Amino acid sequence: MKKNFFNISDLSKEKILSILRINEEIKCLKNKNIGLLFEKYSTRTRLSFTVGISSLGGNTVDIKFEELNISRDESFEDTFRALNCYLDGLVYRTNSHQKLIQASSYFEKPIINALSDTSHPCQILSDLYTLEEHFGSLNVHILWMGDMNNVCFSLCEALNLIENLKLTICTPQSLSKNKKWQFNSNISVVSHIDHIDIQSVNCVMTDVFVSMNDEDSDEKVSLLKPYKVTSELMSKTSQNSIFMHCLPAKVELEVSKEVFQSPKSIVWKQAYNRMIVQKKLLQFIYQ
Ligand code: CP
Ligand code: NVA
Repeated sequence: MKKNFFNISDLSKEKILSILRINEEIKCLKNKNIGLLFEKYSTRTRLSFTVGISSLGGNTVDIKFEELNISRDESFEDTFRALNCYLDGLVYRTNSHQKLIQASSYFEKPIINALSDTSHPCQILSDLYTLEEHFGSLNVHILWMGDMNNVCFSLCEALNLIENLKLTICTPQSLSKNKKWQFNSNISVVSHIDHIDIQSVNCVMTDVFVSMNDEDSDEKVSLLKPYKVTSELMSKTSQNSIFMHCLPAKVELEVSKEVFQSPKSIVWKQAYNRMIVQKKLLQFIYQ
C-alpha cells in the first residue's frame, strides 16, 4: 500500500515508536529514484534527505520548480502525472498543505511532506527521537515559546498520540485565539510565563517568529518579543533542561545568543538526527 507522510497524525503511537526504534540499516532504496521538489528554501531537509537516500542505496533527483513546465502553462495535475512516470517517491516542500493532498491524487508513489504551511512532521518525528535519546524516555515537559506555527502544530499532533509527553504553549492570546486545533489534556496554552509551572519544564522549544509562509509583519515580531528564550527563562526551568530549535534561527530575536550557544542547546544534535530519523522513516515506507 502507498504510504504518504503528510502529518504526524498519519501514524499511530505504536508506528511512531517502531520507526524510532529501527536499528538495522537496509538498502531499501536500491534502484529507486526519489524526487526532491522544494517550492521554498531549505538547508537541513534537502541535504538530510539527499545524503540519507544515497546511503540507503537510492538516487535523488533535484527538481527545480521554476524549470518545470508548470511555470509556463502545464497543469498541476499533468505535472504530477509526469513525475509519476519516472520517480519512485517524492519529498515535497510546499507553501500549501492542500497541494500535497492534490498531488497524491496524480502521483501514485509515496509522498513525504518536507514542510507545508501547516505541518512539519519530519522535524517533529526527529525531535521525538532526539528527546528520547537525550532523556532516555518521553516523560518530558516541553515549553513551546512563541508563534503557533507548522512545527508547533506537528508537535501538538505528536502530543495527542504520546500521552507521557506534556506541552505548554506560551504565546500571545491574539495569536492563539484563531487556532482551531484539537488538544488533548497534556497540552495547555498560556499567554504569560508566570502561568507556567516553570520548574517542571525539561525542554524549551521555539522557532522563528515569522515563518516562510507568513507575511513579514513588524507587528507580529513586536508582539512576540516578550516570548524570546533568554538565560533568565532557562535558569528557572529544571536543572537538566535543554533548549531546542528546528532551525534556521534568528539569533537574538526568538532566542538569545547566550542560550543558543550554551551547553543546554542541542540544536546541532537535532539537525544531525533529521538524517538518522528520515532514514528510519524511508525504511518504514519502502521496506
Ligand atoms: N528545520 C528545517 O526544516 O530546516 P530547513 O528549512 O533548512 O530544511
Ligand atoms: N516555521 C518555520 C520552520 C522552518 C523549518 C517556517 O515554516 O519557515
